[in-house]
Amino acid sequence: MKRIEELRQLIRYHDYQYYVLDAPEISDQEYDRLFQELATLEKKHPNLVTLDSPTQRVGGKPLEGFGQVQHAIPLLSLGNAFSEGDIRDFANRLGRLLPNQEIEYVVEQKIDGLSVALEYVNGLFTRGATRGDGEIGEDITENLRTIGSIPLRLRGDAPERLIVRGEVFMSFEAFKKLNEQRSMANEMLFANPRNAASGSVRQLDPRVTASRALDAFIYGILLWQGDKGPLTHGEGLEKLKELGFRTSPEYQVFSDIRKMIDHIEQWQVKRALLSYPIDGLVIKVNSLMQQEEVGSTARSPRWAIAYKFPAEEVTTRVVDISVGVGRTGVLTPVATLDPVSVAGSVVSRATLHNEDILKEKDVRIGDTVIIRKAGDVIPEIVRVLKENRTGNEKVFRMPDVCPECGSEVLRVPREAAIRCMGVACPVQLRETIIHFASRAGMDIQGLGPSVIEQLLDKKLIHDAADLYYLTKEQLMQLERFGEKSAENLLVALENSKKRPVEKLLYALGIRFVGERTAELLIDQFGSLQKLREVSQEELESIPEIGPRIANSIVTFFRQEQTDELLGKLANAGIRMEKTENRQGMLSGKQFVFTGGLQKMSRQEASDLVKSLGGSVGSSVTKKTDYVVLGDKAGSKLTKAEALGIPILTEAEFYELTGKDVV
Ligand code: IVH
Repeated sequence: MKRIEELRQLIRYHDYQYYVLDAPEISDQEYDRLFQELATLEKKHPNLVTLDSPTQRVGGKPLEGFGQVQHAIPLLSLGNAFSEGDIRDFANRLGRLLPNQEIEYVVEQKIDGLSVALEYVNGLFTRGATRGDGEIGEDITENLRTIGSIPLRLRGDAPERLIVRGEVFMSFEAFKKLNEQRSMANEMLFANPRNAASGSVRQLDPRVTASRALDAFIYGILLWQGDKGPLTHGEGLEKLKELGFRTSPEYQVFSDIRKMIDHIEQWQVKRALLSYPIDGLVIKVNSLMQQEEVGSTARSPRWAIAYKFPAEEVTTRVVDISVGVGRTGVLTPVATLDPVSVAGSVVSRATLHNEDILKEKDVRIGDTVIIRKAGDVIPEIVRVLKENRTGNEKVFRMPDVCPECGSEVLRVPREAAIRCMGVACPVQLRETIIHFASRAGMDIQGLGPSVIEQLLDKKLIHDAADLYYLTKEQLMQLERFGEKSAENLLVALENSKKRPVEKLLYALGIRFVGERTAELLIDQFGSLQKLREVSQEELESIPEIGPRIANSIVTFFRQEQTDELLGKLANAGIRMEKTENRQGMLSGKQFVFTGGLQKMSRQEASDLVKSLGGSVGSSVTKKTDYVVLGDKAGSKLTKAEALGIPILTEAEFYELTGKDVV
C-alpha cells in the first residue's frame, strides 16, 4: 500500500513536469518503469485501485452514450471584436459601467479547441463536461481522464469544490500525425485541429481518446468554494497553476488601452510561431469584483470579449481556370493558383463559386489575386489586383457543354448555378440511378446505393436502363450476391416494369419534376412519347408549369442520351404510357365464362375481373352482366341470348378490361 502511494505521487509529479510544465526530469523509459510497477501492484491488489491513480488514464470501457450534465454555473459565450475600434468600444462601454474606476485588462490566447468544464471535489476530479448549449453539456469524464495535463488529483491546498473552464485542443504536430495515420488507414481526414480535438473527445470509446494526443489549457474559474479564493483573474490563473493545471499561457495584464492594442497587434504575427491553434485573443477585466459588478447578458459576460484575428491574406497568381462538376451536376469554376502558404497550409486551388461571382470579381487567367481561407478552411479569392494587369490576362467563359460528358448545360433562371443536363454524366450518374431505383421512383427493392456503385464500378451498367438487361451471372459477381439474392433482384426489376408511367417520369430525375409535377404531366399528355414532342410554350400553358420547369423538361428531352435511355427502357418492356385508372371499373359487374379461352386460363380471367372490381358467376341468370364466349360454347350462350345479356368474344373481353395480350 505504501509503495503504491509512493509510486502514484512520483508519477503525478512527473506527469506535472511533463504535461504541464513541459520540463520532464526523467526519461520515458524510467517513467514507463514506474508506471509498470504501479500497474503490476494494482493488478495484484485490485481493491487498492482508486480513480485518481495515474493508471486510470488509459481509458476504460466504451460507453453506450454520453450522459447529460446540467452545468452548476452556465458556460457563457463571448462577444466578438474584429478591429481596434471594436476593442475601444468595449473598453469605453466598461468605462461607463464602472465610472471613476481604474480598469485592468488581461489579454490571453483564444485557444481553438473544445470548451470544457471540470469539477473537483476535495481535490479529486469528479466530472468533466462539454459546454453543450451552455446550460446542459455532455458528460465526458472518462475521456477527459485520459488527457495527461488534466490533473486527476489537485496539488497542494485544494478548495472543497472547484469548477474550472478550459479548452481541450490538439497541437499542429499531433493533428498532422493523426491525419497521416488516418490517411494510411483510408479513414476520413479531420479538416483542422479543432475538429480533430472535438472528434477525439466526443468518442464513446475512451481508449480511442487516450490514443489521441490531446491537451488542455485552463483559463477560468467558474466556482471556487473554500478559503483563499482569488481576487483577480490573473491571480486565479496563478492559483490554478499551483493546483496542477496547465493554464492559459503567456497572458498579460494592461491598464493602458493603447499598450494593450499594440500588444494585440503583435500577436497577429506571433501566432504563427505557436505549436497549437489559436483563433484570436480574449480580453478580460482583471478584477473579479468589477466582473461581478458589470455582470453578463444572457449569452455573454460584459467583462470579456473575443478579438478574432482577420483571416490571413496572401497574394498569388491565377495560372488557369477550370470547371469541376459536382454530384448534382453543378458546374463550379475553380482557379488553379501558384502554390502559396496560407493559414498553415499550401494552397494551389481556390473556388470561384459560380458564374456570377466569377464575373463580379472579374477574375481572369493570369491575374494577381489576394486569397484567404474562408472560416480558415476553404481557400477563396478575395479580390483581383487590377493594377497589376498587363493586358495579357484571359477572360474565362463558362462552357456551354459539360466538361465531363459533353452534354448541354443549363443555367437555371434565378439561380447562379449552371448544371449539366446529361443523363450519363459520370459524376451525376450514380445519384441519378439511386434516384431512379428509389421508392418514390421505380421502387426497385434491394437496389440500394452500394449495389448501384458496384454495378457502375464493374461497368455492368452505364445508365438506368441497363439495369433491366442485367443477367443473373452478372449480378452474382457482386459482393455478397449469391444465386438467391441475384434472382430476387431480377424479380424486383421485373416487378418495377409495371410501375405507372408517372413514376417512371419522376424516376428519370428531370430537375424540378417532382412526384406531383410528374403526375400532372402524365395526366395532361398521357405518355412519355407525347411529352417529348411538346414545346416549351405548350408546357408553360399548363397553369402549374412555369418557365423554369418547362425549360428543364425540354432540355432534358432534347438530349441524345435521353433518346437512347428511353429507347432502351421501352425495349425492356417498361410501361411508357398512361394506364387508365381501371381500378373498380368493373365494380358491380358480373361475368360468366363459357367455353375455353385461348390466351388465358379461366382462373386468370376470373382474377382479372376481380382485380377490376367485378365478380364471376358460374351460371347465367338475370343478374349476369356479360357472358364471355370461349370456344365450344354450350347452353350458357343460348340462355344469354334468351335473356338479352351482352355477349363478348375473347378479344372484346380483353379490350374491355384493357389487358394487352399477344
Ligand atoms: S473565456 C465567460 N478564455 O472561446 C467567458 N474563452 O468564443 C468564457 N476560448 O466558448 C470564455 N480560449 O471555448 C475564454 N482564453 C480563453 C479562451 C476561450 C478559447 C473559447 C471558449 C468559448 C469561446 C468563445
